[in-house]
Amino acid sequence: TDTAIIVVAAGSGTRLGRGVPKAFAELAGATILEHALRGLAGVDVSIVVVVPVGFEADASAAAERAGVVASVVVGGATRADSVAAGLERVGEERFVLVHDAARALAPRSLVERVVEALRSGERAVVPVLPVVDTIRESGAAGLGRIVDRSTLRAMQTPQGFDAQLLRAAYAEALARADSTDDAQLVQALGEPVASVPGDELAFKITTAADADRAEALLAPEGS
Ligand code: CTP
Ligand code: MG
Repeated sequence: TDTAIIVVAAGSGTRLGRGVPKAFAELAGATILEHALRGLAGVDVSIVVVVPVGFEADASAAAERAGVVASVVVGGATRADSVAAGLERVGEERFVLVHDAARALAPRSLVERVVEALRSGERAVVPVLPVVDTIRESGAAGLGRIVDRSTLRAMQTPQGFDAQLLRAAYAEALARADSTDDAQLVQALGEPVASVPGDELAFKITTAADADRAEALLAPEGS
C-alpha cells in the first residue's frame, strides 16, 4: 500500500473520567480503540497504533479482534508527541493519515475519502463539518460579537498528508508541540490545506455524554 495511518490512542482521557486511558474504556462491549480499528478493517492502509506505556498488548489484542494488522508504539505526554512517535514507526509509504482513536465511530467511507483526495494530488487534506451553533467571541469584558458561522468549519480526523510534508511539519513544530491539529503544523510551513466533507459519526468522544451518544449509536436496533 502507498498509505499509512497513525491512530493516536495514548491520551489519558481526563475529561471522560473512566479511570483508564480513554482508548481502553469500553463502549458496548469493546474498547474505544477496537471500535476505531473496526472502521479501518478492509481499508488499504498500514496501521500504527500509539498507546500509553503498558497498553501495548491490549492494543494488539484490540487490533486482532477488529480484524486488522497493526504495529504498536508507545506515545508521549502530548498528542503531538504521540503523533511524532507514530511517525517514527511509519515506513516508506507515500501518504500518512493521522487519526484520533477517540473518533471511534468514524466510518470507513470517511477514511477512504481522505485517501482518495491524496491520491488525486492533494498534499494535505482535512475532513470538515459546518458549525451548527451560534458562535460568539468572549473576553474579559464579557461576550463580544457573533462570528459569522458560515465562514467556519469544525475539524475532524483522519487528516491526510504527503508523508514528507508531514515529517517536515513535525520537524519544525516539535518545539511548540502543544498543537492538537496536524494540518495546522503543515499550514505553518505555508502549505495549502484542502478539505473533504466530514461525517457526523466521526465526532470525538471527549465527555461522558459523548460516550453515551456513541453507545446509543452502537446499540443494536430495539435493545
Ligand atoms: N492523544 C495521544 N497522546 C496524548 C494525548 C492525546 O495519543 N498524549 C490522543 C488521544 O488518545 C485521542 C486523541 O489524541 O485519541 C485526541 O485527544 P483527546 O480527545 O484530548 O484525548 P485525551 O487527551 O485522552 O483526553 P483528555 O484531554 O480529556 O485527557
Ligand atoms: Mg487531550
